[in-house]
Amino acid sequence: MINKLILAIICLCFTGPNIQAQKFDNLAETPPMGWNSWNTFETNINEQLVKDIADKFVELGLKDAGYEYIVLDDGWMSRERDEEGNLVPDPEKFPNGMKAVADYVHAKGLKFGLYNCAGGKTCAGYPGSRGHQYQDAKLYASWGVDFLKYDWCDTGKLNAKESYITMRDALYEAGRPVVFSICEWGDNDPWEWAEDVGHMWRVTGDIINCWDCEVGHGSWASFGIWKVIELRSKEKTREVAGPGHWNDYDMMEVGNGMTDAEDRSHFAMWSMLNSPLIMGNDLRKATKETLKTLTNKEVIGVNKDPLAVPAFRFNNENNIEIWAKPLENDAWALVFINRNDEAVSIDFDWKKHQLADDLSQQYFKPLDKDYEIRDLFQHKNMGNTSKNLKALIGVHDVLMVTLTPNS
Ligand code: GLA
Repeated sequence: MINKLILAIICLCFTGPNIQAQKFDNLAETPPMGWNSWNTFETNINEQLVKDIADKFVELGLKDAGYEYIVLDDGWMSRERDEEGNLVPDPEKFPNGMKAVADYVHAKGLKFGLYNCAGGKTCAGYPGSRGHQYQDAKLYASWGVDFLKYDWCDTGKLNAKESYITMRDALYEAGRPVVFSICEWGDNDPWEWAEDVGHMWRVTGDIINCWDCEVGHGSWASFGIWKVIELRSKEKTREVAGPGHWNDYDMMEVGNGMTDAEDRSHFAMWSMLNSPLIMGNDLRKATKETLKTLTNKEVIGVNKDPLAVPAFRFNNENNIEIWAKPLENDAWALVFINRNDEAVSIDFDWKKHQLADDLSQQYFKPLDKDYEIRDLFQHKNMGNTSKNLKALIGVHDVLMVTLTPNS
């Protein structure tokens, strides 16, 4: 008996545990869609807010449009762990604990997410997971957490890849499938290593609700929509995106004070880039126009297109940005975004533009065949590519079309 026991221990030491830790498969097959509390509420979050948001998901057609995850960002915890070292939900904000909150969200057919950080403290100064990864992962699993955003404050000299692998393994061992959202702001080139570690990775520092600004906060800066896009829409980030692993351009600022036109362009670009579509506005106060943008199923369809190849910048003529995204069945999505401060008419001769994408090996051939054009915001067909495309694009607005080849 004793001999058998010794043998078993020796085997275990040499072979390690049977489970090979990895990230969870079959999650985030298309870019995750949901809502996160940070952009609007920062740490002012509570149980009632989550319930209201979950109700709004259903009531406003957001769930129908594909939004699924409700994620509480920083500020959900008490300042200290308990005597056993467990994280404690702030008892004033979450008087019934976190499982009750997750249960409410699940009862609506939705999924629930939380935030923590790889460092000793979160960015807002709450207890981080450093040294407690396996314990925290178990706790999340016991509450029914489906999504973890994992930040990078207070990490000193920690190695990013190793730290994210530790948390990935901890989640895997806890056994409940969790979308693992890496948030180290693109500082350690996650597009080089994160494909097998997480399901999405932030590519930039924090977004802010402006069209094209950069706001300094001393040691760090936040970025408007175009700054975020331009910082990292590079060949390398395009190459690594795909089912289960996406570039995350940050939670959206749609409905947070930009113009409706700017919101449309922002939403169109996040869809074109295959970014997760995580809303960041107060859904209880959303206007009709905001909801129309957020629930635009044709635009969301581009984000979810099975080819899963992010857009590239095709052209910028007279400050009209043209981005192109290859779609399945040899189709394309194109946006024309007016970055001028006045409305601009375009007269676009398809036959003079050679759209080609070496990454997906997809080529646009308007000289060989016509493509049917569909306007995804007006929900109208616009004829085909045998004629020039003529349109008036308002200030900072977008014309978003799909081009489908006539066979
Ligand atoms: C960092 C992240 C933000 C948010 C805050 C919370 O700045 O990048 O998205 O999670 O921390 O403190």
